[in-house]
Amino acid sequence: MSNSELQTVLELDQIIGGYGDTQILHGVSMRVDPGEIVVIIGPNGAGKSTAMKAVFGLLNLSGGKVRLNGEDITNMPPDQVVHHGVCYVPQTSNIFPSLTVEENLEMGAFVRTDDFRPRLQELYDIFPPLAEKRRQAAGTLSGGQRQMVAMAKAMMLEPQILLLDEPTAGLSPKYRGEIFAIVKTVNATGTPILMVEQNAKQALKIANRGYVLVDGKNKFEGSGHDLLEDAEVAEMFLGGGAPP
Ligand SMILES: Nc1ncnc2c1ncn2[C@@H]1O[C@H](COP(=O)(O)OP(=O)(O)OP(=O)(O)O)[C@@H](O)[C@H]1O
Ligand SMILES: [Mg+2]
Repeated sequence: MSNSELQTVLELDQIIGGYGDTQILHGVSMRVDPGEIVVIIGPNGAGKSTAMKAVFGLLNLSGGKVRLNGEDITNMPPDQVVHHGVCYVPQTSNIFPSLTVEENLEMGAFVRTDDFRPRLQELYDIFPPLAEKRRQAAGTLSGGQRQMVAMAKAMMLEPQILLLDEPTAGLSPKYRGEIFAIVKTVNATGTPILMVEQNAKQALKIANRGYVLVDGKNKFEGSGHDLLEDAEVAEMFLGGGAPP
């Protein structure tokens, strides 16, 4: 069965909203289908993080709809969005630095009432460095490993979709590559991913599809491959020049 025959997991349908009286999103639409990695790129201040926050009920939308598996979750409060199976790793402050790695993962399981130990082990298998450092304070880890803690914490709930806001921000190229590889691994376990990324070229290489947001509006969209090949997108958003 092709993706188009399966129900869309997450859909933002012409959403309008912002902070206080300031409108940031002027009718943004995007979707994530089963099994996909979808990347949002665009300049600073374009509204990428705001669009993610809108999914997670952290914004009051004055127009448009957010749907999860066809169900209307527009303006649903964050705790309920979590219960519906959406997990979100924010751009900053996404771990508890003074808690150990394992305590962070346990915190990630806070709404689980069943035995989450098997899940913990599965995640240690996906993120081997975390298994090794399970008793260490998360704040003492490298930037890349802290990002792994944040992702693993979110994955404790076995979400229906994972939202990642700039998971490779501030990381060295080596760690960036590691994080992108882990994003692919997590996705291969069946979790669709919506990810904001500044490292647009690398992100689009692992993406099924991508959206370019500019000034709170959709500017371009297409398959990861097509966006990488698009001369205008490359010129404006991929650091100049189409890839060879
Ligand atoms: N909590 C907030 N209160 C008021 N304005 C905000 C808030 N967060 C963001 N903004 C504003 O909303 C606009 C969009 O911000 P947003 O963080 O969504 O951009 P972004 O595309 O994620 O940018 P970046 O690439 O820098 O992360 C910006 O003008 C920003 O100043
Ligand atoms: Mg942002």
